[in-house]
Amino acid sequence: MKVIINLMKITAIAPANIAFIKYWGKKDEKLHLPMNGSISMNLDSLYTTTTVEFIPGLKNDQIILDNNSEIAVNRMITHLDIMRKISSVNNKAKVVSKNNFPAATGLASSASGFAALTLATSHALGLNLSQKELSIIARLGSGSASRSIPDGFVEWFEGESNETSFAQSIFPRSYWEIVDIVLIVSEKEKDILSEGGHQLAFTSPFYSTRLKYIDNKITKIKNLIKKRDFYHFGQLIEAEALELHAITLTSTLSLIYWLPETLTIIKLIQKWRNQGLSAYFTIDAGSNIHLIAEKKNIKTIINKLKNLKEIKKIIINNPGKGARLSNKHLF
Ligand code: PMV
Repeated sequence: MKVIINLMKITAIAPANIAFIKYWGKKDEKLHLPMNGSISMNLDSLYTTTTVEFIPGLKNDQIILDNNSEIAVNRMITHLDIMRKISSVNNKAKVVSKNNFPAATGLASSASGFAALTLATSHALGLNLSQKELSIIARLGSGSASRSIPDGFVEWFEGESNETSFAQSIFPRSYWEIVDIVLIVSEKEKDILSEGGHQLAFTSPFYSTRLKYIDNKITKIKNLIKKRDFYHFGQLIEAEALELHAITLTSTLSLIYWLPETLTIIKLIQKWRNQGLSAYFTIDAGSNIHLIAEKKNIKTIINKLKNLKEIKKIIINNPGKGARLSNKHLF
């Protein structure tokens, strides 16, 4: 019997996410199995929209991105190949993908990008996948993309194999009214993608110490989110961000993701805190700062931030939904 699959044009939207406990270093390069679990929150104002259609007769995949870098296009084709293998469809696809924020600046564009591509492609191929399966496949595109599939506050289990390394929602987005105020100090693409950084992590003399305490940190942060204990939560995420950057700084090659403006803002946030304002920072592999605060303090904080010459753009994020379908196609 011939199975006829109805190929459709499908669009998905997926959020970027901010890691409170970070993924840095892999135990399997190809499968993107992380050395440790991680905890994140989806960001409702930073997202990728992706439309996918498998077209009979198309000779090559046609990928249209905001910036058509060859590396990014090839990574997406590899991902389509993985998903074609799962389904029985061999057709090439047209893919259009758009971020509503600058890509490759440390704002998790690969996370939202691969999560959106995974969800749209799965439906375009007629695959009926569970959230766990989607998270696993998104992980194969970019590790942190596994966390952009589920809703709200998310845990990515380290796992020991392809099937056991996936992310799951630990609290819904309405659970805690905290915000991530993204402070963009540079829209330039970073020189070293996180891919290279993961490999270098092992060369830092402090990496083994980090791994020793990381499970404990994960247990702690989950408890603090559960209790909505913003003070201890803030202390922990800031220490974690500084630890990640201590590893990148002391890798061989040393990776310095910060710009002078990054440091100016870090010092300002710490100064404001000494003056009684409850705000903390975290930073991924880039120069832009995520200021984490309770929603009730947004106005006060924005007033302080708005005249700083170091900041090019401010993006306020609430805890966001995970990847979902949309009917607004990009072509
Ligand atoms: O998923 P990748 O390979 O882009 O790595 C993400 C690494 C960090 O953003 C620094 C940390 C994290 O957990 O998101």
